[in-house]
Amino acid sequence: MAEFENIDEIGSWSEIKLEIIQKYAHAYSVILSKKNNLSHTYIDAFSGPGFHLSKTDKDRVIQGSPWIALGTEPRFDDYYFIDMDSDKTDMLKLLAQNHDRVHISNGDCNNLLVNRIFPEVQYRDYRRALCLLDPYRLNLNWEVIFQAGQMKSVEIFLNFPTMDMNRNVFWRHPEKVSQNNINRMNAFWGDESWRDIVYSEPQQIHLFDNTAIEKVADNDSVARAFQARLKEKAGFQYVPSPLPLKNSTDATLYYLFFASQQPVAANIVEDIFSQYRGAM
Ligand SMILES: C[S@@+](CC[C@H](N)C(=O)[O-])C[C@H]1O[C@@H](n2cnc3c(N)ncnc32)[C@H](O)[C@@H]1O
Repeated sequence: MAEFENIDEIGSWSEIKLEIIQKYAHAYSVILSKKNNLSHTYIDAFSGPGFHLSKTDKDRVIQGSPWIALGTEPRFDDYYFIDMDSDKTDMLKLLAQNHDRVHISNGDCNNLLVNRIFPEVQYRDYRRALCLLDPYRLNLNWEVIFQAGQMKSVEIFLNFPTMDMNRNVFWRHPEKVSQNNINRMNAFWGDESWRDIVYSEPQQIHLFDNTAIEKVADNDSVARAFQARLKEKAGFQYVPSPLPLKNSTDATLYYLFFASQQPVAANIVEDIFSQYRGAM
């Protein structure tokens, strides 16, 4: 479609993610709207322009997460959207022009969340927030996740970028991984402890060139380790087993995580995830 040249095409796994966000955002807003003393905010850190095209049917427009959030009833009290790409935030401004209390920022969400937006949703101020962290790649910093866990007022959906990790970091010859990719992985994980998970088996030595060949942990083991980290290090009390999001050849591209302080929230998400487990 010529008029949508800068618009991403998304696969069925992303559509499933969006359906899940839609279902949970509705449930969340219903519950929070009944609590008269609390105000509830939606935060979308890698917001995109608000819509996409389908990978398989390029004429089909798909509502992105900001559009879904703006259409959620009952409405949220405030909406924060961030994207680094100014073309995308410009499109989003058009989409949101008839909505109140929408705050759109063009910039790096790692900085904006920690310094400007999370401070707006403090527990002590009776504010609560649902925050979507939806990077395509390893470009989210652990500080964001950690701060969300410590605040107690914020729950998150997190798109865990397994594909980027497998392609660029979890190599059987770790010495060949670039420093830039190691830095991105450390920034996402928060430290280097991912190495102990990913390379937990004893290494073999390559017969001909004497270099080390590592056995790399499977995707589920890495995801389970991150699930434990969300609880033990970031301080979220409830982290359901994440949902693997797969492509048509059954390869896991992402895991969708949810983390919260509320048992009822985790139960709702577990119930939604169960509708999709095994369906991909
Ligand atoms: C997966 S897309 C978002 C899709 C959107 N959440 C949805 O479901 O409709 C990722 C977006 O993040 C933006 N982005 C990448 N790095 C960023 C960063 N550090 N801060 C803010 N936005 C970023 C990209 O420009 C891109 O639009």
